[in-house]
Amino acid sequence: MKAETPLVKQEVPILQGIYQFPKFPVVLVTVGGERDRNIITIHFVHPVSFKPPMLGVGIGRGQYSHELMTKYGEFVVNIPKADLRPAIDYCGTHSGRKVNKFKETGLTPVRASQVNSYLIDECPVNTECRVVQTAELGTHTWFFGEILTVHLLGTPLEGYDREENATFAYL
Ligand SMILES: Cc1cc2nc3c(=O)[nH]c(=O)nc-3n(C[C@H](O)[C@H](O)[C@H](O)COP(=O)(O)O)c2cc1C
Repeated sequence: MKAETPLVKQEVPILQGIYQFPKFPVVLVTVGGERDRNIITIHFVHPVSFKPPMLGVGIGRGQYSHELMTKYGEFVVNIPKADLRPAIDYCGTHSGRKVNKFKETGLTPVRASQVNSYLIDECPVNTECRVVQTAELGTHTWFFGEILTVHLLGTPLEGYDREENATFAYL
């Protein structure tokens, strides 16, 4: 019988190391008004404070969404279900500078209630945020937004299932 060789830890390329996190969330951020509304797929997103409730999103400096985030200072984080995968891929590989992503994906914009932006109707969770702070970190600007309101399709009591309904990660 072959003896098992014990695993040895190695220092690996840093990006390879980063991608060993169990999962990265994938969300759709909407930003912009009626004429220039846009959707960007991101995985740099995390709650950063409970009181006040805040979310951080990291947007690359070259993105069209970066311009819009700076212009509007308000945005919505939409949590998609896995059935939106084609739209998620489209919004993560096309720029709003060249295409209208709402039109091309068929996703439905619904006016946000607290901010000048749009919710994606097909996403079961929509979190409206206003930017209160930014941080320039390497390739990305982190926009930290206070959460003004959250729209949730159903409630835990009504059978809302976080795993089934609202978590989607493939990185
Ligand atoms: C799964 C996935 C995750 C991504 N995560 C981020 C991210 O965290 N931040 C970012 O700026 N771009 C991210 N991108 C890339 C943007 O979605 C992509 O460059 C997009 O075309 C930019 O659109 P815009 O120019 O309309 O803003 C991601 C793309 C994919 C497919």
